[in-house]
Amino acid sequence: MAKIPVAVLGATGEVGQKFVINLQRHPWFELTALYASERSADKTYADALNYGKENSRWFCKGMPSEKILGMTVRNLSNVHPEENSLFFSALPSETALEVEGKIAGEKPVVSTASAYRYFDDSFVYLPGVNELHAGIIDVQQKGRGWKGFVVPQPNCTTIGLVMSLKPVHDEFGLEHVTMASMQSVSGAGYGAVRSWAEQRKVQGSDLPAELEEFSQGVFEGNVIPYIHMEEEKVRKETMKLLGEFSAGKIRPAGFKIACKCNRVPVLDGHTESVFIETTKGCSIDALKEVWKSYRGEPHKLALPTAPKQPIIVMGEIDRPQPRFDAAMEGGMVAIIGGVEANAFDNGFQYTVLSHNTELGAAKGAVLAAEYLNKIGLIK
Ligand SMILES: NC(=O)c1ccc[n+]([C@@H]2O[C@H](COP(=O)([O-])OP(=O)(O)OC[C@H]3O[C@@H](n4cnc5c(N)ncnc54)[C@H](OP(=O)(O)O)[C@@H]3O)[C@@H](O)[C@H]2O)c1
Repeated sequence: MAKIPVAVLGATGEVGQKFVINLQRHPWFELTALYASERSADKTYADALNYGKENSRWFCKGMPSEKILGMTVRNLSNVHPEENSLFFSALPSETALEVEGKIAGEKPVVSTASAYRYFDDSFVYLPGVNELHAGIIDVQQKGRGWKGFVVPQPNCTTIGLVMSLKPVHDEFGLEHVTMASMQSVSGAGYGAVRSWAEQRKVQGSDLPAELEEFSQGVFEGNVIPYIHMEEEKVRKETMKLLGEFSAGKIRPAGFKIACKCNRVPVLDGHTESVFIETTKGCSIDALKEVWKSYRGEPHKLALPTAPKQPIIVMGEIDRPQPRFDAAMEGGMVAIIGGVEANAFDNGFQYTVLSHNTELGAAKGAVLAAEYLNKIGLIK
């Protein structure tokens, strides 16, 4: 069967590079176009990234194929919706709002940007959690007169939290959720990663102007107890993802939630300390069992990018740890550990870790697109 032609918007960035890696040998999708800003446009992908040279902007462990390295990066200001059946977007949100909307007039867009997450007609999709919300795509298309649609991924910090909450919410109900995050540097884009790597190598090295704001030693040996708008995003998205869809609307979940987000000197993987109070009483063993046995639609359908099970429970009190565990199952699982009861009524606490640029971004978006294709929404 012929593969579906797809394009990546923001292909030179931290998330865009992961899209390239996850799409270049995909069984269903054929990567045919790479878009970025004018500073990368009209260069080969290799030249745009200084691939294999000093000051390389390539951050992934995998390597792009020769074919991809030789592809010419196209200017986003001249995007061609008619040339592809599906667009993956890894653009900054400010740019995404206009460009994704323009493309969605004609074709589907699956996005890691936040631009369309907070509209009432958006299907913010976390694979394995809220397939029952997919009907909102029809509402979006009719309301906006679009032939395509935008399906945004949730924020990378929301993802681990909601994966861990979903089976508990279904089985025991939730009254309160409190979360404190320890988020990796790669969550802030390639500028942050580059800067952090440079600081570790040559203090005071001569960085390009656009990286200067990151070059003040902010990451190394430090914790930044604020990430712009992150807490609001996590609260809103969690309630929406665990809400109910009926009569063309998503009614948010009813429990109370508080969170505090921190940037820490970790390369990949967002770790979260979570405190919950369930509605029905349950034991630690019962909690562990609902996590271990949980399967969402993509897992039941064995989609190409789906892990066998979406949640791994580790027995050790001091795991998961991002350095050792974030890449487990290709970074496509939520890893839970340190599960304990606490002093609150039906109160429990645990640690959850998820990979912010795999499940939390590009690879999660590829899985989302696989499901949308499976239900016939990619033509
Ligand atoms: N990093 C994460 O862990 C993560 C996780 C989930 C979601 N996200 C979201 O995913 C999106 C991408 O994040 P990122 O970390 O990959 O960012 P990034 O590393 O800064 O990359 C941004 C990409 O967008 C392109 N771009 C920037 N401004 C543009 C413009 N005006 N016109 C056209 N292209 C433009 C850049 O092209 P040039 O190289 O040519 O400048 C680059 O390809 C963001 O919305 C972010 O919030 C990130």
